[in-house]
Amino acid sequence: MISESPTRTKKEHTSQTQKSYLLEQGKKLVSQLHTSIRTAQIYDRSNLVYVRQMENLFELIQALLEKEREIFLKSKEGYLFLNETRLKFSLDGYTLSKYIIEIFKRLQFESLTFSSPLTARELDEFVFILAHAATECKDPFENLQKRIAASHIQNIKVERFASEWDVGDQSLPENQKKLAKKRFFKTLLVAQEMMESAKTRRSINTIKGKRAIQFLIDQLIKDESNLLSLTAIKNFDEYTFAHSVNVCILSVALGARLGLSRRKLSELGFAALFHDMGKVKLPLDILNKPGELNEKEWREIKKHPVLGVKALLSRRSLDRFSTRAMVVSFEHHLKMDLSGYPQVSFKKDLNLFSRIVTIADVYDSMTSGRVYAKTPLTPDEALKRMIEKQGKSFDPVLLKAFVNMLGIYPVGSLVILDTGEVGLVIEANPTELARPKVTIIADKNGKREETETVDLTRIDEKTGKYKRTILKTFDPHRYNLDIARYIY
Ligand SMILES: [Fe+2]
Ligand SMILES: [Fe+2]
Repeated sequence: MISESPTRTKKEHTSQTQKSYLLEQGKKLVSQLHTSIRTAQIYDRSNLVYVRQMENLFELIQALLEKEREIFLKSKEGYLFLNETRLKFSLDGYTLSKYIIEIFKRLQFESLTFSSPLTARELDEFVFILAHAATECKDPFENLQKRIAASHIQNIKVERFASEWDVGDQSLPENQKKLAKKRFFKTLLVAQEMMESAKTRRSINTIKGKRAIQFLIDQLIKDESNLLSLTAIKNFDEYTFAHSVNVCILSVALGARLGLSRRKLSELGFAALFHDMGKVKLPLDILNKPGELNEKEWREIKKHPVLGVKALLSRRSLDRFSTRAMVVSFEHHLKMDLSGYPQVSFKKDLNLFSRIVTIADVYDSMTSGRVYAKTPLTPDEALKRMIEKQGKSFDPVLLKAFVNMLGIYPVGSLVILDTGEVGLVIEANPTELARPKVTIIADKNGKREETETVDLTRIDEKTGKYKRTILKTFDPHRYNLDIARYIY
């Protein structure tokens, strides 16, 4: 055997150490950048809290600049890179990285470069510009560049999105929303078609399903909150299809947060989309029965996990996608402690995919008002009930990540604010779970001509306190509110 030359090994070793150094420092940089921007939004520049945070940030960047000629932070396809090294975050760090990616996206820049000799004044000016940059104008990037030039910042540069992935109109929030909506309904159609073919015993065309899921994953990586907000719309006629798509989106979003690879995410999405495949074999009058189910009807319902396995088995070829989907179909009502159905005699842990799908499934069912509770629960109430059953029905770690993803007040929650106004949560805020974005739909007298969307993290400059805070939630269904009207 030929041994490797010592120089090559040494070189490899150096590049490996350099990579892990960048990885470590990169995570610190993202975290500190996040804290500095948030502090700049709350305090003025002479405030000691802000000054301290800026000192920390400056020190961190200086240390990096001593080792590297220049350092650049880049956002690409939903990930952050520091000098080409992809930064990997833990669950807690994930929200911080999302926050930074969101700023890049809103201001339409792809990378941020620091070079020597960077001064503390330049960094201070730059962070302040970032924290208060206008995103609602026609060209946020141009605006940002003008301000950088006006402040004579020479050693920090921003570069506009250039890759095909993020180019042009797609980075504008409105178009993103339209695209997300299109994909959502496309997937709905695919789910419908596939279940129809299972009903008539034709063999199932799963290629379409896989493609639809790939679209969803691409969309989720670009903008998680848009797709998640669509799952809050529950007034579809065809419940099973809409439910399947919702469970698919929620599962893939959770899987992405856990760091699953693209390939694994596709398999998970596929399994989630077809978790209730067995239901198409059940009589419609049981599925659509408005009242409570009797014991005999329940016995029928409980057959759907096994019926789903059979339907998937009828495919011409068996690949990883269908075998995974079969496991999920079989296990998705078993619960963590195996006390669910179908009855099993084995003692083993549920598959990770099944544990994810179970959480997404119960959440969507509870908030839709089918099967588990005849009247829909508010999103926060559903999460509360699920937390009560963690360990028994759900995997506690996964459930925690799920709650983190949706926020304490998930999209679709109706809230009363301390100003007396009534608002509908339309977007979770990844860094401050209790302060989502809210559309005000009524003032304190119960009236409102036009809707307005407000960010609950906004501070009143005069008092230094939050402008609006959530007091409590209440049920939108009780007020016959059409959530879809506000989400689109
Ligand atoms: Fe089910
Ligand atoms: Fe389900």
